[in-house]
Amino acid sequence: LNRRQAAKSSFSRLLAALLILFSLTACTTRVTDYDQVGPKDKLIIRFSFVTGEDTPKGLASIRFKELVEKRSNGKVEVQIFPNSTLYSDAQELDELKLGDVQMIAPAISKLSEIVPEVQLFDLPFLFQSQQDVWSLADGPVGQELFRLLEKKGYKALAVWDNGFKDITNSRHSIKEPSDFSDLTFRIMPSETLQKQFEAVGATTVVVPFDELYFSLEKGQVEGEENTISNIYNKKLYTSQRFLTKSDHGYLGYFVLVDQKFWSTIPPDTRKMLTETLQEVTDWERQLAMKKNEQEFELLQQRKDVQITMLDKRQKSQWRESFQSTYTWFMSQVHDDLIRDYLKQKETQK
Ligand code: LMR
Repeated sequence: LNRRQAAKSSFSRLLAALLILFSLTACTTRVTDYDQVGPKDKLIIRFSFVTGEDTPKGLASIRFKELVEKRSNGKVEVQIFPNSTLYSDAQELDELKLGDVQMIAPAISKLSEIVPEVQLFDLPFLFQSQQDVWSLADGPVGQELFRLLEKKGYKALAVWDNGFKDITNSRHSIKEPSDFSDLTFRIMPSETLQKQFEAVGATTVVVPFDELYFSLEKGQVEGEENTISNIYNKKLYTSQRFLTKSDHGYLGYFVLVDQKFWSTIPPDTRKMLTETLQEVTDWERQLAMKKNEQEFELLQQRKDVQITMLDKRQKSQWRESFQSTYTWFMSQVHDDLIRDYLKQKETQK
């Protein structure tokens, strides 16, 4: 009897051990907390950019992070580095290739040294509306620019908006094209932007975004062009008393990853990332318009900012004065799709 009892109790111990083992395995495969995914199983995407968090780009990157981490059950982690905390304009492009960051969203102008054709987006008064921007960005010309970037190893996943640029400076109000001529403007690295300012007799200096505030404050440059969102969030108005609401140029971003890095991601994860980014892009574009409007109202309330609005006649004077920028761009670009797009635009005027 004792032997039978002993066998019975060792059988129940075995059963209990098996049960514990089973429940432990079940726990490790069912993820209830993101931290339970081991570092080796995680895909980490370090996302670096130069603006602050409370901007269209910043808020969209946070939304992207939240959705991706939820949808992947924590298998993908997106780490956000705003405000150039990691890298400044040119550095982030190099670091993306070196693999120190996996995602960036530079202003399109900043890609001009890699693919000069992207400067199409820099042409003054090219777009009538935001809708006009989207049909270019999401149409065949946008795809063509993505293809040219891919040839250089950069995979563009989306086009995010900031909005239309206005002119600010510390010296005097700018109404007529002739008002530009005694001023030095900070520009992003784009020859088209340089030509635009040269067309109205102004001098330009390329300054990275993280140095812009101080360079304006110290008077190294007297003016710059930017969206209301950037002027407001980087507090550029503290040294830039005069703002002309010209909406003459467009500022948008290409969301980029390194082509090689992208191809190492499993197809189902890639699909989830692409779809999520598409959804975030639609959201970001609406947000950018709303934020620029709201922040313009806030700037209008400030006593230290003097705002000049342009009427129709002045805008067409500006457009005419900038015309040589188009001639120059056409002489540089040989891509048929881009040339046809510009010719078509010309006939719509
Ligand atoms: C700038 O350099 O002025 C902007 O491109 C910054 C940004 O990313 O919006």
